[in-house]
Amino acid sequence: MGTTVVIFGASGDLASRLLYPALLRLEELDLLDDVHLVGTALEDWSEQRFLEHLEESLADDHPDAKALATLKRRFVYRSGDLTQASIAELAPLVSDMNVHYLALPPGLFPKAACAIAESGITQHGHHHLVVEKPFGIDGASAAELEEELHLHWNEDQIFRIDHFLGKETVQNLSVMRFANRVIEPLLCADHVDQVQITVAETLGVEGRYRYYDGIGALRDMIQNHLVQLFCLAAMDPPAVWDADVLRDHKVEVLRSVRCSADVSEWAARGQYTAGTVAGESVTGYLDEPGIDAASITETFAAVRLQVDSWRWQGVPFYLRSGKRLGTALSEIAFRFREPPTRLFTETALAEAEPNWLVFRLDQPEGIDLFVQTRAPGLEMKAEQSRMHADYGSDTAGVTAYQQLLLDVLEGDHTPFLRVDEVDWAWRVLDPVLDAWQTGRPEPYAAGSSGPASQADILLDGHAWRPLS
Ligand code: BG6
Repeated sequence: MGTTVVIFGASGDLASRLLYPALLRLEELDLLDDVHLVGTALEDWSEQRFLEHLEESLADDHPDAKALATLKRRFVYRSGDLTQASIAELAPLVSDMNVHYLALPPGLFPKAACAIAESGITQHGHHHLVVEKPFGIDGASAAELEEELHLHWNEDQIFRIDHFLGKETVQNLSVMRFANRVIEPLLCADHVDQVQITVAETLGVEGRYRYYDGIGALRDMIQNHLVQLFCLAAMDPPAVWDADVLRDHKVEVLRSVRCSADVSEWAARGQYTAGTVAGESVTGYLDEPGIDAASITETFAAVRLQVDSWRWQGVPFYLRSGKRLGTALSEIAFRFREPPTRLFTETALAEAEPNWLVFRLDQPEGIDLFVQTRAPGLEMKAEQSRMHADYGSDTAGVTAYQQLLLDVLEGDHTPFLRVDEVDWAWRVLDPVLDAWQTGRPEPYAAGSSGPASQADILLDGHAWRPLS
């Protein structure tokens, strides 16, 4: 009987921008096999009207005509609200395997999860529930949400999406670390002196002010996406590639984070003012439409996390993310210590730069290892060489959502968050949220590298990597 995927919120932004294009690509790759798709939303649309909406959503994706026609044939649309009665009407569409994708505002997750379970449609077949971040706005609200989800759903049935975990480079981080003898043994305090994880965006809030104001960069990016990258960069190698073992190791990282009670020592925040990004003048955050003129929401956040483990003792992990910065850049960068002896002190090689191993998440995706080499010529002079693994062109068409949808269909929990990961991520960052309830973020000009105070959280001798 195949698999049925029910998309709740089928007329919404998430479905149109991310899910439909991902489903189309999977269709083009012939990966949907016997998947049935059900779109449901409040709109009182006919099937035809929904299919027009689907097609409009895919207009920029240059769909292959045959794949689009097949995708349309897979879909049925049912208008409905999130009441048991209306969900019960979906009963004839249920298969052996069912995925209920809540492409809804997060405030509706408990209501939808409860109504689906109580509608009776989950009595036959297997049922999975897909939810997207944000999972709460702090530890307490996340715990409340989880309690409500767990009233009707087992942890094994819940797939919590953090779309960064579907990104090619993020998946490759684990392969590079654990499938290569030459990398993994070097990633520890003996050899690495700091790790910098940056997700810098040139975009502003882009009309998402209702969601963003009051949320800010720490909750929107650091607590989920960057903390996940941090866990994957810092975790010990699992003994087997298994979703639970992997997630145990990630939780272990979070449980070993130690930070001082004085949050200002390890966290910095900023808010963009008017400036120029990519040659265009842009307004400041407080002047963006819909933003409260007195808002203290941070559009830039940076933290230094210390991991109290044998592997990482004394090595700071710096995480930063901001909007309206001068350059869009996403990377995980390990900086290595200097060689133990300096053989070339009498020569220009004494000026050698440290080694960096950099995983680039944005296009073109790839991995760079910066090493010192002898500059050709008669003088003993160093130059920095970049050893580059480029798989950007192969990944250009693959989105994180394609990968994650496929994993949901296969029931593979590996790239999804377990409840305790969410909980521990909040435990690490709740003190920052508390501290930031008062005071103001430091202003930084749009198009710059962010607030100057981000440097205050660095250990002596460390500097942020340039954003370019
Ligand atoms: C989202 C955030 O989760 O991730 C956005 O809510 C952010 O604010 C986006 O822009 C970044 O994702 P990507 O895939 O565009 O790097």
